[in-house]
Amino acid sequence: MAVWSAPGKVFLFGEHAVVYGKPGIAMAIKPRVYVTVRKTRHPPRVKSPYLEKCFELMGVNGSVYIHSQLPSSSGLGSSAAVTVATLSAINDEYGLGHTKSDIASMAHSVEKSVQKGRASATDTYVSTFGGVLLIQGDIKRRLPPEDFHLVIGNTMVSHSTARMVEQVSKFRATDPDIVNPILDAIEAVTMRSLHVFQDQRALGRYMDINHELLEALGVGHPALTRLVTAARAAGAYGAKITGAGGGGSMVALCPKRSKSKIAGAIEGCDGRAIITTIDNEGARKE
Ligand code: PMV
Repeated sequence: MAVWSAPGKVFLFGEHAVVYGKPGIAMAIKPRVYVTVRKTRHPPRVKSPYLEKCFELMGVNGSVYIHSQLPSSSGLGSSAAVTVATLSAINDEYGLGHTKSDIASMAHSVEKSVQKGRASATDTYVSTFGGVLLIQGDIKRRLPPEDFHLVIGNTMVSHSTARMVEQVSKFRATDPDIVNPILDAIEAVTMRSLHVFQDQRALGRYMDINHELLEALGVGHPALTRLVTAARAAGAYGAKITGAGGGGSMVALCPKRSKSKIAGAIEGCDGRAIITTIDNEGARKE
């Protein structure tokens, strides 16, 4: 029996723009998914297309048990964390000898095949290696870890990443002269944020701008607006959608002393709050 876990993630900057080759900054967060894999002679009962693909790719059979601290379909990378932890546990249980880099690229191919090609490598890479990463196409640069205090607000409105990505792609096809400058502005905000990474007040302002640009792309939702506004009013340095939008979650960068107040404000607007910080480990054996 092998038990592995892998963390979730938030996008601090650049979601959607990364789909068009722009840079994005993503951070692994503490809540994890725990996966237990046990050798079996018979094919496993299929629980999800992600698990099915993991076993298919590794060419083995096994039973699998999942315990998740991450809500699914909420923009926190739970499908990537499940995939990374499952591949890692299969690798360990069967002694297949794959490296962490192999696991990250296999996890990306699982996500691509389940999500019909529409998945950037961000979630799977961040979940495998942990930390905070600047991602642009195939280039991934680890940024110095920052002890940010984050409060995540889950709207509990489920969304489909694939649908939101497709919606932006259609908008871009019909109105390139509107959408391309928005994507360029998201890129500029992401790049500017790198210059102020130690200045949380300035970083928060860039997160606010990134949020408004995502709204302009059409991936906002009234429930997200409520939680973002509540977090800012309760003292967050900045707050924005994280992930695909249209529901799912927002993230607020917070002064340490205000994180409980901000979490309370989110709960007061019918969101589920998670107070968290960076995970520097990535996938690990339990
Ligand atoms: O909602 P999530 O966590 O799957 O994030 C989606 C981020 C997008 O940029 C919209 C798509 C992607 O694959 O990067």
